[in-house]
Amino acid sequence: MEKIFLKTDFGKTIDNYEFLGLNKALRMKPSEVLEKVKENCIRGRGGAGFPAGIKWDFVAAEKSEIKFVVCNGDEGEPGTFKDRFLLENLPFKVIEGIIIAGYAVDARYGYIYIRGEYEKAIKSIRESIHKMTERKLLGKSILGSSFGFELKLIRGAGAYVCGDETSLLNSIEGKRGLSRIKPPLPAKEGLYEKPTLVNNVETLSVIAEILKYDQNIYLSLGTPKSRGTKLLSISGDVKNPGVYEIEFGKMSIMQIINDLAGGVKGSGLGFVMPGGIATNIISDEQLDTPYTYEDLEQTGSSLGSGGMIVVSKDRDYLSIVKNISDFFMNETCGTCFPCREGNRNINKMIDKMISDGKVGSQDIEIIREIKQAIGLAARCGFGQASVNSILSILEKYFEKKVYV
Ligand SMILES: Cc1cc2nc3c(=O)[nH]c(=O)nc-3n(C[C@H](O)[C@H](O)[C@H](O)COP(=O)(O)O)c2cc1C
Ligand code: SF4
Repeated sequence: MEKIFLKTDFGKTIDNYEFLGLNKALRMKPSEVLEKVKENCIRGRGGAGFPAGIKWDFVAAEKSEIKFVVCNGDEGEPGTFKDRFLLENLPFKVIEGIIIAGYAVDARYGYIYIRGEYEKAIKSIRESIHKMTERKLLGKSILGSSFGFELKLIRGAGAYVCGDETSLLNSIEGKRGLSRIKPPLPAKEGLYEKPTLVNNVETLSVIAEILKYDQNIYLSLGTPKSRGTKLLSISGDVKNPGVYEIEFGKMSIMQIINDLAGGVKGSGLGFVMPGGIATNIISDEQLDTPYTYEDLEQTGSSLGSGGMIVVSKDRDYLSIVKNISDFFMNETCGTCFPCREGNRNINKMIDKMISDGKVGSQDIEIIREIKQAIGLAARCGFGQASVNSILSILEKYFEKKVYV
């Protein structure tokens, strides 16, 4: 894999990681740091692609003695493991990004929330926080400046919905991981009702990296709507699953699968979930789509969490649908009736399809209606996305066809 951007400091220790981004940021005014994030047009890497600079602006504009930065490392989406890569291998860069964010938005307290199963990542971040505190890179007067920042690590307890930023805030507060009604947005009233910036691990790492350079080098990479590079995790039926970094717009889905992931295992490609199991599938005729936010949206899918899952023709598609449905049925927090009951009913319908050996003529129509109802009532993005891949697989491969 070409080392383009984020992997440049791979494997560095506290003795040779230079914290260049942080050094530079602390010599700039907070407003200049913020400007740099905006100029580089960084979009959030946690799934929604919201521009980081705009979110930072909201938090910076809030007048409050106490503000927080929260780094979202929950990464519960099946097939997504690019944040784990960063947490395990580039912990200083992740923490550096959190401190820079704190400096820019005037927050002196931070939390990093990591998925409970990520033992190695938790160890890596815990040790790094300790080492950085010893070297005065965390705590009071960072690098001799007047800026101080405290960072705490929170270990998640394994609920997918806690990746949603408001559920995550509840979880940090020791409450049940249920999402909150928005507004107010976390930027206004987040952790302990204080203005809070929530960003993904990769988003903050990218920002630490761009701060190193005088030029806005991110602008020279990617496309106008998808600047820079992206880490993606590829899994499923490929020969070389793993985490890869690519420049936006430079490779199509097919090239990613063949040139990076070593091609499809088995007798050929069936379909791809380009951004995790909450995204619509893209099928063989869409494989030339360049990997950018805008091009994937054109296909009706999305880049999602950056977790690409490749499925070969040899797989039993209905059992994959069942597997996805089990996940969403078990992980719904249950607050919104249509999300809770809708996902349960879809699961029952899929069980019946499997036992009958066919997809009934009205089944897909009913699932479409359930999806619509969930979409109207869902409090968080879980509900909106929970039926995407299920319905798109059924529509593409089973609508008006008998399954035997
Ligand atoms: C059910 C659900 C799970 C989510 N899981 C994650 C996650 O694991 N990591 C993450 O960064 N964002 C996740 N998000 C998105 C967050 O709510 C939020 O948008 C993100 O952390 C903001 O960071 P960003 O702007 O840097 O992308 C999830 C959202 C939903 C609805
Ligand atoms: S949409 Fe689903 S997961 Fe989200 S709050 Fe409602 S019930 Fe919970």
